[in-house]
Amino acid sequence: MILFAIESSCDETSAAVVKAEEGRFTVLSDIISSQIAIHALYGGVVPEIASRAHCEAVTNVAREAVREAGIGLSDIDAVAVTFAPGLIGSLLVGVSFAKSLAVTLGVPLIPVNHIEGHVAAAYIEHEELAPPYLALVVSGGHTSLYRVPDYTTFEEIGASRDDACGEAFDKVGRVMGLPYPGGAAMDKLAAEYFADPDPQKLSFPFPSPAVGDDSFDFSFSGLKTAVINTIHNEKQKRKTDDLPEAVRRAVAGSFTKTVCDGISKKLAAALRETGIKTLVLAGGVAANSHLRRAIAETCRRRKVAFCVPSLGLCGDNAAMIAAAGYHLLRAGITADSALNALASDAAADEYLATCKARSTS
Ligand code: KG4
Ligand code: ZN
Repeated sequence: MILFAIESSCDETSAAVVKAEEGRFTVLSDIISSQIAIHALYGGVVPEIASRAHCEAVTNVAREAVREAGIGLSDIDAVAVTFAPGLIGSLLVGVSFAKSLAVTLGVPLIPVNHIEGHVAAAYIEHEELAPPYLALVVSGGHTSLYRVPDYTTFEEIGASRDDACGEAFDKVGRVMGLPYPGGAAMDKLAAEYFADPDPQKLSFPFPSPAVGDDSFDFSFSGLKTAVINTIHNEKQKRKTDDLPEAVRRAVAGSFTKTVCDGISKKLAAALRETGIKTLVLAGGVAANSHLRRAIAETCRRRKVAFCVPSLGLCGDNAAMIAAAGYHLLRAGITADSALNALASDAAADEYLATCKARSTS
């Protein structure tokens, strides 16, 4: 089966063509047009600008995905699209495009929750992956831990109570003057810190994002504020805005270590309590080299299988939406032509539950 997918929930317009054969995926194309350079001017995503940029890009991105895949439009068996959660104006562009295409081709339209799409990215390179498993999605907009008992059920068992993990990386990165979005640059700076073997090197004690012993919840807001306050204090102490490189590295390294330790602690507890033997790490922050290593080690110690997408599939892309769409279609979950974009996670869950009920009635 050939799936065509569209993703436009935030600041990346993406279209992909993916071949699915009995749960095995071949990505024939996965075109991503990023708006990062535009939003970098403002230090964050400007929703109105994002919608307009999607509108300009979507047709060419879709055409390029079909061309690169070497297929004709008549080869497409189904169209999958991110309909929620995200920026409403951005989502509407992808949803409208996908609806028109599915109706014109006379093929099923599959509504995909963006967060569940991130998790499905892991199926593409891990053929052995099958439910039940635990999935942690760490992105710019979400930090949520799910129990996944079957391909289309996501039970949230923990989440950030405030900022998302990626948001903390980006806000700390902005105060440190790193290029937007700060996650990737912070990864590099922290690597330099960890590579320094000096046992006396500077480090900062930051509060853990692993809050409460009786839940699998996180909080990144206190950590973010503590790191930003430390940066300001160090600047004041030194009477300069240009912190020495050793201090910048120590901030990045201490912050990253605190994030990795906090997430590992919660995951170890969740694996222990649920007894589940497979863990998926997904979302933009799953590209963080230190987090990947820390969680791989947590899983190794607990003899748990660890699946994480390769770097190109961690950030927003349409191939992951196709993979999620395939499993929804197999479960009979499709949308009708009234499909709308939904900004919130809760509204997305409600809509998918309705589709599911319809598929089983
Ligand atoms: O999943 P994603 O592409 O978009 C959302 O759905 O939010 O995630 C984007 C987030 C940004 O906050 C970005 O800074 C972060 O992923 N990110 C990273 C790294 N690469 C991207 N964070 C930490 N380390 C990285 N290497
Ligand atoms: Zn995302």
